[in-house]
Amino acid sequence: MSIIGIEAVTFGVKNIAKSKKFLTDWGLKVQKTGAYGADYACVDGSEVKIRAFDSRSLPSPIQAGSTVREVTWGVEKKKDLKNLAQELSRDRKLKIFEDGSFSTLDDIGLGIKFCVSKLRNLKPKPLQYNVPGGNVRVDKPATYYDRATPQTLSHIVLGVPDFKIVESFYGERLGFRATDRYTRRGVFLRAGKYGNHHNLFVMNIDARKPKFNHLAFKVRDIHEVIGGGQFLTKRGWRSQVGPGRHYISSACFWYFESPLGGALEYCADEDIVTDKWQTREFEVGPDLFSEWTFNAGSTFNAPTAASRAK
Ligand SMILES: [Fe+2]
Repeated sequence: MSIIGIEAVTFGVKNIAKSKKFLTDWGLKVQKTGAYGADYACVDGSEVKIRAFDSRSLPSPIQAGSTVREVTWGVEKKKDLKNLAQELSRDRKLKIFEDGSFSTLDDIGLGIKFCVSKLRNLKPKPLQYNVPGGNVRVDKPATYYDRATPQTLSHIVLGVPDFKIVESFYGERLGFRATDRYTRRGVFLRAGKYGNHHNLFVMNIDARKPKFNHLAFKVRDIHEVIGGGQFLTKRGWRSQVGPGRHYISSACFWYFESPLGGALEYCADEDIVTDKWQTREFEVGPDLFSEWTFNAGSTFNAPTAASRAK
C-alpha cells in the first residue's frame, strides 16, 4: 500500500494558549495561528495541528479531554491513495477531498487521513564521534544544543482495550508490518518496507476506551534530546520520564507531559528496519521499558541478555 509514515497529527485541546506555548517551546515552527488553533511543522514539513476540542471540524474523540483526533498518513503516489480508498470504502464512509486525499475512521474510532506525502528529504550533516583509534573530529569542538529542533514525526502510541483489533486493521487493511511484540499485550507496527522501527505502537490497557499515550519526534542525536529536555525544564514544563534509552527500538528518549493530552517524546537514533528484520517477542516486565533511565531509582533492573531472551 506504500504508506510512508506520519504526515500530520491533529489534536483537539482544551487550552489553546497553553498548547501553543508548549509547542513553541518544543521547537516546532509555527505555520499559521489564530483563535481557532494553530499549525506547526518539523524541519521536514510534518505537522502538528491544534484545534479547540469542541471544534466541529474534528472527528469525534476517542477519549474525554485534550487528545489526538486525527492521524494523517503520507503515501508515495496518488495511485496508492486510490488503492487505499478502494479498500477502505468496502466497509466505511470516506470523505474525499479535491486533491485525492481522504479521511475516515479506523477500527477503534480514531480519525485517520491519507495524502500524498509532501515531506522534504532531510540532509543532516553527519555527526562526528571520536572513538579511541578513530578520531574523526579534530581541531573542532562538538555540536551543542541550547534547545531541540524536531526534524520529523516518528511514531504515535495508544493504549487500547484490544491491540489485536488495531493490528488486524493496520496490518491486513493498510499493509503495516509487526516489528516487535509484547507477548499477548501489544505490537510495534511500521508502515513502510524500509523505515522506522515503529510508526504506531499499541498496547492493551485495562479500559473500555482507547487512550492516547504519546507522540514522538525525531531529533538529531542524544545531545539534542538532552538539550531539548533541559530547555523545556527551564521553561517550567514537567518531565514525564527520561532522559533514557529504550531497549526495544534502541532510541534515546525524553518524555514531557503535554497540554495536548498524554505526552510528547524527543527521540534519537531509533532502529531502522527492512523486510530482513525478524519480529521479536518480549514478555512485558517493568524494566523492559529502557536500558537506562535517569532518576529510575535503585530498584530499576536494566534488561540483561537473559531477561530479554524468550
Ligand atoms: Fe515512543
